[in-house]
Amino acid sequence: MKLVTLLGLPFAAALASAVSFKGCQNKVKESIHGPPRGWYKHAPVPKHHMLELKIALPQPKFPELEQHLWEISDPSHARYGAYLSKQETEELMAPHPETLDVVSEWLALHGLAEEDIIRSAARDWVTIRVPVGLAEEMLDTTYHVYKHAETGENIVRTTSYSLPEILHDHVDLIQPTTMFARFKAFTSTLHRTNKVQPAVLSTSSGTITGPAGNPVDASCTDTITVSCLRQLYNAVDYKSNATNGNKMGLTGYLGQYVNNLDLQQFYQQENPSAYGSNYTFISVNGGLNNQSYDAAGLEANLDSQYGFGLSWPTPGTFYSTGGEPPYIPDTLTLTNTNEPYSYWLDFVLSQDTLPQTISTSYGDDEQTVPYTYAARVCAGMASLGARGVSLLFSSGDHGVGDNDSDPASQMCFTNDGRNAITFLPSFPASCPFVTAVGGTTNIPEVPAFFSGGGFSNYFARPAYQIAAVSAYLEKLAPGTYKGLYNCAGRGYPDVAAQSTNFGVIYQGEGNSVDGTSCAAPTFAALVSMLNDARINAQKAPLGFLNPFLYSTGHKALNDITKGNNPGCGTEGFNATVGWDPVTGYGTPNFNKLKDLVLSMP
Ligand SMILES: *[C@@H]1O[C@H](CO)[C@@H](O)[C@H](O)[C@H]1NC(C)=O
Ligand SMILES: *[C@@H]1O[C@H](CO)[C@@H](O)[C@H](O)[C@H]1NC(C)=O
Ligand SMILES: *[C@@H]1O[C@H](CO)[C@@H](O)[C@H](O)[C@H]1NC(C)=O
Ligand SMILES: *[C@@H]1O[C@H](CO)[C@@H](O)[C@H](O)[C@H]1NC(C)=O
Ligand SMILES: *[C@@H]1O[C@H](CO)[C@@H](O)[C@H](O)[C@H]1NC(C)=O
Repeated sequence: MKLVTLLGLPFAAALASAVSFKGCQNKVKESIHGPPRGWYKHAPVPKHHMLELKIALPQPKFPELEQHLWEISDPSHARYGAYLSKQETEELMAPHPETLDVVSEWLALHGLAEEDIIRSAARDWVTIRVPVGLAEEMLDTTYHVYKHAETGENIVRTTSYSLPEILHDHVDLIQPTTMFARFKAFTSTLHRTNKVQPAVLSTSSGTITGPAGNPVDASCTDTITVSCLRQLYNAVDYKSNATNGNKMGLTGYLGQYVNNLDLQQFYQQENPSAYGSNYTFISVNGGLNNQSYDAAGLEANLDSQYGFGLSWPTPGTFYSTGGEPPYIPDTLTLTNTNEPYSYWLDFVLSQDTLPQTISTSYGDDEQTVPYTYAARVCAGMASLGARGVSLLFSSGDHGVGDNDSDPASQMCFTNDGRNAITFLPSFPASCPFVTAVGGTTNIPEVPAFFSGGGFSNYFARPAYQIAAVSAYLEKLAPGTYKGLYNCAGRGYPDVAAQSTNFGVIYQGEGNSVDGTSCAAPTFAALVSMLNDARINAQKAPLGFLNPFLYSTGHKALNDITKGNNPGCGTEGFNATVGWDPVTGYGTPNFNKLKDLVLSMP
């Protein structure tokens, strides 16, 4: 029965309702070779265990949305800064009406009526809560409990699912099914060192010369502070306007909460004029805000202390996104979701006004995120860009890939059954619609050895970076890392910032923190200050930054030309003159960037 060919005709949906699913063959929609390294099949799932399934419906007008995005983010285009409204964006994200009908039909066949369905604002995601038994019937699959060998975490997943053939063109993906990603914070676990109070122990006095040629306190070589970053990045005297409508956003996942006492203590020490100021807390999908000292999150504390501390007095927003739906846990502690970006995107895209700048310091190996899911989340990032939001993401903390010293558990292998050696790009940094921030260290700056960088295996190289990335690849010796990376992929990071020895107050004490998690909120805070300058001058905010950065913005960055980012048993890539997959175009020179963005329309 090939009713798909009838779609587009006005009566197709009605016709479909009568006959479509009868005798329609199920066909595999998505399957993976097996669970990623680290996960093993543990137990059967109780059939009554509730799953929250998210169904992504295709967005046939996405190419149009993308075209708008390129135009309105390009400083040389007449439409630069003419961002789309929420409504305009939603219209370009919406599924075809027939898709809505066919999917509703299918849900109805399984006893799910409109009142059992939650739809996103653009109607492009459908969420249902069903017992595992019903999900297995709908998806012609069997779920299992998979356990993570290292962490003991239990999740309910399958390695394959099927849908009636007629539905294949009407559904992009259904999760949780094949998604085993474990998004992590890009700080804390790996590179946390314990030092006592920031600055206090510094033996260095006097000043040294910073990347912009201006003096920087020599103590900044021991501990990075808010004041150090302003000096290093040439933003010492800039003061944002608290009331011009500019806002700075930070995301928190995985039970990371900003501890407010820690934040105030940090302000007291590092930015006394911010002491007593607050930020707006927003809970997404049941995200909590546990203010117990024991519940303080090192990542959330780092992000807020530097993200809000640097951009103060610009009002801050912190999104705490819950990772699990509010179900009654079974005796087995099962986690259904580990895919919080779709919840966050659904939420922010449904808001009328948004922070102009948002920083995120979480990600995972691209290959653990199913392509269909990564593509949809990345499209959501494009939609936020079309609304005029600058999105900054940490590039990851494993250089070109995790390098486990235990050969039995080496991580730099493909997930597709071939077990081939490969570099492991990080997602969402690899999404071409975000600005990925790598890490530097020391003064003069060199790459932090862990600075995540490389090339996406999912996303093709976008036009804005073809010249820059080709120039880099042409400099590589022929055959370098052949087969280890996708030479046609989106290269990242785009930019970089300091990422070691950040003084962070955590549970009342000073800590020194490393990771590209330091770099993203730092770069984002400076972008927020650039947005402030543009808003004060009655100009549109910068929106999606990359077309600007790759055309002219890079001229106002400090190029990092030495060092590399080892991983997977290799030395990784080298930083070079111009763009490189270690530090991108380099670190910010705020005053130079400000002059540049104020000279643009
Ligand atoms: C801040 O922005 C508001 C709104 O645009 C304006 O009224 C006010 O004068 C500005 N304050 C300063 C100090 O520039
Ligand atoms: C600041 O905001 C948070 C979140 O909205 C709130 O819990 C807290 O009580 C506020 N005040 C202070 C002083 O932190
Ligand atoms: C807050 O966190 C503390 C420490 O982790 C925990 O003991 C407490 O139960 C949490 N409170 C809530 C309401 O979750
Ligand atoms: C990666 O692993 C190899 C072999 O285990 C080791 O020789 C190398 O030093 C490691 N590199 C890094 C950056 O950890
Ligand atoms: C990095 O630079 C070193 C020293 O110039 C060189 O030996 C090496 O081949 C380069 N590596 C890559 C991947 O370009």
